[in-house]
Amino acid sequence: MQLVFLGPPGAGKGTQAAILARELGIPQISTGDMFRAAVRDQTPLGREAQRYMEAGQLVPDEVTIGIVEERLRADDCRDGFILDGFPRTVPQAEALDRILAAAGRPLDRAVEFAIEEEEVVRRLAGRRTCSECGAVYNIYTRPPRQAGVCDSCGGPLAQREDDREETVRARLAVYGQQTAPLIGYYKESGRLVRIDASRTPGEVTAALKEALGVA
Ligand code: AP5
Repeated sequence: MQLVFLGPPGAGKGTQAAILARELGIPQISTGDMFRAAVRDQTPLGREAQRYMEAGQLVPDEVTIGIVEERLRADDCRDGFILDGFPRTVPQAEALDRILAAAGRPLDRAVEFAIEEEEVVRRLAGRRTCSECGAVYNIYTRPPRQAGVCDSCGGPLAQREDDREETVRARLAVYGQQTAPLIGYYKESGRLVRIDASRTPGEVTAALKEALGVA
């Protein structure tokens, strides 16, 4: 199954992509995680991406499309993938359609995670991420067993730089201007599925699986 997960920052795309990818045995491809790894390693890509991410802006399309195109060529994408956070602009969506058409395997569905702005601000204020394995927690809704320590690998938990309220507001504005138009793009071509992302993680997973016919 070839899927795109769309929605504002903090809607729960990454949380649900990790669960579904594990169950379906396909990779979760998060452009945000790819950029954060490059920033951590201070590669040329990371140095370029960093200034956009810290300001809550999008990394330029030509850079982002290039890394996704390369990633989709990897062997583990043969049976499908979940794109988490890509595409985020109409040119990225058009490029993805071109890449998949050239490979003869079109996108199955784009899933919209619908949620109110104030709820995502609350969620992102509580998000903590493992610095070692990337596991995602929330101090309010999904706390680790021991404060500040990852349940899975024991690594330290940290707040993402771009989860400060001011940057979250900038990311939400960018979402409204540049990414929300993709909802119409996928709706018009009959590929959109809409999920109410404001419910509990378990309820969202159940709704997602039912909508995709993998329950
Ligand atoms: P990216 O990492 O993709 O961030 P995002 O899309 O803003 O999404 P988030 O990771 O913030 O949220 P999420 O929806 O995955 O929520 P999560 O599951 O973690 O991008 C970061 C930056 O990279 C961008 O700003 C940009 O600069 C750059 N970038 C990335 N892709 C790009 C692209 N394609 N083009 C250009 N630039 C790009 O959940 C959030 C919190 O809520 C967690 O704490 C979680 O535990 C909790 N939670 C999840 N679900 C629930 C629930 N149902 N109930 C209660 N709490 C919940």
